[in-house]
Amino acid sequence: METIVSGIRPTGHLHLGNYFGAVRNFVKLQENNNCYFFVADYHSLTTHPEAEDLKEKVKTVIIEFLASGLDPEKATLYIQSDVEEVTELYLLLNMFAYKGELERTASFKEKARKQPNNVNAGLLTYPVLMAADILIHKATKVPVGKDQEQHLEMTRNFAKRFNNFYNTKIFPEPQAYNFGHDLIKVPGLDGTGKMGKSDNNGIYLIDDAKTIKKKIMRAVTDAGPEKDKPMSEGVKNLFTLMELVSEADTVKYFREQYYNLTIRYGDMKKQLAEDMEKFIAPIRERIKELESNKDYINKILKQGSGKAKESASRTIKEVREVIGFYNTLK
Ligand code: ADP
Ligand code: TRP
Repeated sequence: METIVSGIRPTGHLHLGNYFGAVRNFVKLQENNNCYFFVADYHSLTTHPEAEDLKEKVKTVIIEFLASGLDPEKATLYIQSDVEEVTELYLLLNMFAYKGELERTASFKEKARKQPNNVNAGLLTYPVLMAADILIHKATKVPVGKDQEQHLEMTRNFAKRFNNFYNTKIFPEPQAYNFGHDLIKVPGLDGTGKMGKSDNNGIYLIDDAKTIKKKIMRAVTDAGPEKDKPMSEGVKNLFTLMELVSEADTVKYFREQYYNLTIRYGDMKKQLAEDMEKFIAPIRERIKELESNKDYINKILKQGSGKAKESASRTIKEVREVIGFYNTLK
């Protein structure tokens, strides 16, 4: 059994990329591991969200986690900012994070380019906060996408430096959780790269049947297959999406039609829209149910944050001891 930690920043409704790339894996992992899954609201402050907006988005992610099958009886679900211990560990780990390496982090360089007027220290130390999230529960495995691997490597370095300096074994060196074939990149509907919130190319767990159909019918394809011509990106993407939500036979049927050059993309899209709706409908319905059940959500969060705080304060207590704090009030 592994101790597993992962988080998602509250940036809005979850799309199929978030679902198949992250949340579905969490749902699998919760069965046999000690899991902590949280909404990374501290992290989202790097882009200065409005208070009301932040609150709404945090609630949205929690609801969509639950609707996707995360089970508060199996995994510890919580909001990062409910566990203030994380910020203390963040401060302590900052002493082992060097300016040069932080400046060289890919995500920092990209963000600094995207928001040149707001290159704040929180952005620079984003990987340290992430390390605190992980190390506060002494996680051994972290299910994340490829884009987070550098942060995970930094986490291991901070943990090693801390352990070495204080001559302790408090922190394990967490590794990426390897899903083998399950680590997928969900493509968008615009014929380009991956599905992403800011790319306006996604299908959301909250989308209704009409919206799903409209989006899929408008998805980018091409003028039709031609002999010896490679499949265009847009069509490839439709097949990838179909593999996620349709029966194997359905995918096979349209693949054959593609290769014998008789395919009509309109038919394929109609089928995909139908299968997508079948897949999303139960999740969407659970979202609707949960939205009107604020008491239940609050109860779950209290329970989750309580459990996360217990684990976090155990670690902080040990850390404070090895650092040599006076601990007058403790
Ligand atoms: P977005 O790109 O829409 O802003 P985030 O960066 O907030 O999404 O991603 C949250 C989680 O969902 C991460 O674990 C990320 O790896 C995963 N994820 C996001 N988009 C995709 C995608 N298209 N395919 C696979 N996983 C994805
Ligand atoms: N940085 C991650 C992302 O953008 C979110 C995150 C914050 C996270 N803290 C974490 C992921 C700890 C795993 C573990 O997707």
